[in-house]
Amino acid sequence: MSEFKGLPEPPALGASALPAGTFAGTAVIVTGGGTGLGKAIAGEFGRLGAAIVLLSRKPEHLEAGRTAVAATGARVVTASCDIRDAAQIAAAFDVAEKEFGLPAVLVNNAAANFPVPAEDMSPNAWRTVVDITLNGTFFCSREFARRHMAAGTPGSIINIGATYAWTGGPGFAHSAAAKAGVKNMVETLAVEWGPAGIQVNGLVPGLFPHDDMTADIQGNLARTNDKDICQPALRVGRLRELGWAATFLASPYARFISGHTLVVDGANWQRRNLTNPPVVTVRDQMGRGPFVP
Ligand code: HXC
Ligand code: NAP
Repeated sequence: MSEFKGLPEPPALGASALPAGTFAGTAVIVTGGGTGLGKAIAGEFGRLGAAIVLLSRKPEHLEAGRTAVAATGARVVTASCDIRDAAQIAAAFDVAEKEFGLPAVLVNNAAANFPVPAEDMSPNAWRTVVDITLNGTFFCSREFARRHMAAGTPGSIINIGATYAWTGGPGFAHSAAAKAGVKNMVETLAVEWGPAGIQVNGLVPGLFPHDDMTADIQGNLARTNDKDICQPALRVGRLRELGWAATFLASPYARFISGHTLVVDGANWQRRNLTNPPVVTVRDQMGRGPFVP
């Protein structure tokens, strides 16, 4: 193993495969764009000339996102919004339209997740994750499509997913089921809305650790081995790599790509073992004692 170096590092932050100004005159909404991957995606659109609209619940996240995006030189507006609530989404779109006109790109990045053995999960915990991740993604997509249909303008939607949409996700039953719904919805909406000029794609990150990860997720990662050696790429994803994929999918160079879900994970989700390792239960992986009804 030691002779192998894994997949090469990408170019440095600030590089781009797309021409400068690709998104000049275009506004882009990124839900959950104040933290982590959403903030990185918003930054890449900003670097390419887009005006950015950040939507999420917490003022401190929106402020952090505003600062990061403004540092790219982009114009940015924030709107407080819980994507579980269709009325709040409509109000946030009004803010965006007033500031920049109707955004041509929607990145549905906001999601909810925490590790929990399925037998321990309360009905409200299940509902909360499905409501944010699946229902919220649909409500935002619907608002975007209705406004474009009314205006007669084209648009591009990117839904951020997860690989356990295909594989299942032990310890994440709620999020895996919701992300499977998101992937399926990409395929339906791309067909329904293609005639109206609306492209719908999925974009799936592999493991992209970052400082904004919730304590639950960070704790889950901290319990396991070094992350790099657990990936076929021998490294985790760099945030800019996901941003580049998002800007490509929404660019004029990808107009005929629709209904597709692109996985950016160094082939980690395809990983199989030559011989099966011993099964370790989710409870044991999480260091939990026996189930107590
Ligand atoms: C068990 C939990 C829990 C936990 C919350 N709940 N955290 N159950 N284990 N760790 C339960 C609560 O007890 C409650 O159920 C229900 O979930 C709702 O909790 P609230 O705190 O009232 O919900 P809310 O304020 O709406 O917050 C939503 C949230 C929170 C999901 C719980 O964590 C959040 O806001 N997260 C946003 C950011 C996020 O999740 N990012 C992760 C994206 S990463 P009861 O029954 O008690 O009422 C990702 C992939 C990463 O998706 C993959 C990495 C490997
Ligand atoms: P994160 O930093 O926790 O981001 C989640 C964002 O969603 C936060 O900015 C949060 O902002 C927003 N959000 C949550 N609930 C919301 C609600 N009800 N309404 C509006 N906004 C809400 O996580 P991340 O790692 O960047 O993840 C981003 C996306 O990538 C998610 O879709 C996630 O499933 C996916 N993903 C990430 C990884 C990874 O390795 N990082 C792997 C696979 C998939 P507020 O709290 O301010 O609302």
